[in-house]
Amino acid sequence: MPMQIQVVDHPLVQHKLALLREAEVSTNKFRLLTAELARLLAYEATRDLLLEDHVIQGWCGPVNVKKIKGKKLTVVPILRAGIGMLDGVLDLVPSAKISVVGLARNEETLQPEPYFEKLVGNLEDRLALIIDPMLATGGSLVATIDMLKRKGCTDIKAIVMVAAPEGVRLVNEKHPDVPIVAASLDSHLNEHGYIIPGLGDAGDKIFGTI
Ligand code: URA
Repeated sequence: MPMQIQVVDHPLVQHKLALLREAEVSTNKFRLLTAELARLLAYEATRDLLLEDHVIQGWCGPVNVKKIKGKKLTVVPILRAGIGMLDGVLDLVPSAKISVVGLARNEETLQPEPYFEKLVGNLEDRLALIIDPMLATGGSLVATIDMLKRKGCTDIKAIVMVAAPEGVRLVNEKHPDVPIVAASLDSHLNEHGYIIPGLGDAGDKIFGTI
């Protein structure tokens, strides 16, 4: 089965990703680029939102216009690195509600388990845009999708900056209905679970905890 992932090849996306990959990138620059990239990826991820026709009073009389149809959005940052992408996405959808998810590995089962979960209501009526800069093993993303689906959400997309094939395969297998939008599909995971060539630890770079 071919991997299902949308890699956004827009020149601005690829240029910003190249700047993010530089070893000596400062915290400030990494944070700014993460927000800028998130904005561009969210633009692509929202491309298929449905529109409906309206008639409004324009300056010269009635005008036929199109507005986004009914569906409300929730943005779902996965702690902690997902917070780095939040402002960029909210620039495009300022009225979106935010559902925050924190996951930690259970050292016995080695599976990610939620330690923080504050989801907005009416998830069955919303499009959930999950944001996490790095899709590595896919464990956190799968657990977050599981959590959203348990609460009734049926329309979910994931926006990541860099994905590893291992993570994409897992998400495709467990949740084939969830599209993944990324700036890059990288080569592989190393023995420490880092994406190669990747960006290093995105959370540390965003928060300056290196
Ligand atoms: N998380 C990161 O921040 N970087 C990786 O390469 C993998 C997981």
